[in-house]
Amino acid sequence: MANEDIILSVNNLETVYITGKNHSVKAVDNVSFAIRKGEFFGLAGESGCGKSTLVLSLLNLVPPPGKIRKGEIVYYGWGDPVNILTLKRERLRRYRWEQVSMVFQAAQSALNPVAKIKDHFLDTAMAHGLRRRREIYRRALKLLNMVRLDKSVLDAYPHQLSGGMKQRVIIALSLLLNPKILILDEPTSALDLVTQKYILDMVREIGENLGLTVIFVTHDLSLLAGMMDRIGIMYAGKMVEIAPVEDIFYNPHHPYTSGLMKAIPSLVGDISTVKSIPGDVPNLVNPPPGCRFAPRCPYATDVCRTVEPKLERVDGDKYVACHRWRELELSIKA
Ligand SMILES: Nc1ncnc2c1ncn2[C@@H]1O[C@H](COP(=O)(O)OP(=O)(O)OP(=O)(O)O)[C@@H](O)[C@H]1O
Ligand code: SF4
Ligand SMILES: [Mg+2]
Repeated sequence: MANEDIILSVNNLETVYITGKNHSVKAVDNVSFAIRKGEFFGLAGESGCGKSTLVLSLLNLVPPPGKIRKGEIVYYGWGDPVNILTLKRERLRRYRWEQVSMVFQAAQSALNPVAKIKDHFLDTAMAHGLRRRREIYRRALKLLNMVRLDKSVLDAYPHQLSGGMKQRVIIALSLLLNPKILILDEPTSALDLVTQKYILDMVREIGENLGLTVIFVTHDLSLLAGMMDRIGIMYAGKMVEIAPVEDIFYNPHHPYTSGLMKAIPSLVGDISTVKSIPGDVPNLVNPPPGCRFAPRCPYATDVCRTVEPKLERVDGDKYVACHRWRELELSIKA
């Protein structure tokens, strides 16, 4: 990937939760990848794989007992590359929300039930030094229109809105400071499938119109079809595959990706062909040696159980961390 195309680069990131004297959960373990300007990047994997920890790390916002222990997060949006993990308070504050904005997992509950929607916009703007109410409301209305909501929403309280409307308000709020990157962490998982698709479609349209870079986190791969440019698959704190969306869906190279694909019910297919991956994501205090997917992988061999596979380039824009991807290429297709 050419350097001038990159907006954010994550290098050897390790984020842990310190849960005891000699105990820590390695939620993100030596992860490296880069995001391009204007790209729609999906991040997928089962619950507990480290997706939220990774995106919280991108803002240096991992809550205690979490801690970024190693690595760099390099932001290119200011011109000169800056490792955001070295930023002082004020610059970090400007990076968050003004450069990179995030819709948190379960963000709906963050709306203040006794404040009108317009006050949410006002408070956010004022917290970032904007003072002109009229201008703030004008911008709020423009953003609400972008998420296909009308003026009446400004005077509503959160409880007067449906779940889908609240989520759209939160997306509009996250765009208030005109960020370059928007991160959405499972923004729609509490909603029905039709609403989820509707919101994602809207995010794609807004992102394209505003030239945004979007990172969309979900445990539901099926949502991402046709919506993302590339997808990163996380398993047990590791990035195990990164590839253009069509390769993830039609030509996966990692058995875990293939397993996730086979677990997606098709709208037209026979339900009996849907197979969930047996077993669970391992405990990240003491993950299995070698490949972390080995206990669940039908293709595991001795080397898999002892030597950790590194993320390596397959070709073009495809990367995979599996000892056997060359020989399995045909047999693991979804
Ligand atoms: N505050 C915490 N203290 C200890 N462990 C934590 C904490 N938060 C997360 N973890 C652990 O870190 C790992 C990664 O969690 P994370 O929330 O990042 O996963 P996720 O992929 O976002 O999952 P989900 O799809 O459920 O949101 C899990 O093993 C989780 O139990
Ligand atoms: S390295 Fe081995 S255990 Fe891991 S995914 Fe590849 S084949 Fe399966
Ligand atoms: Mg999460």
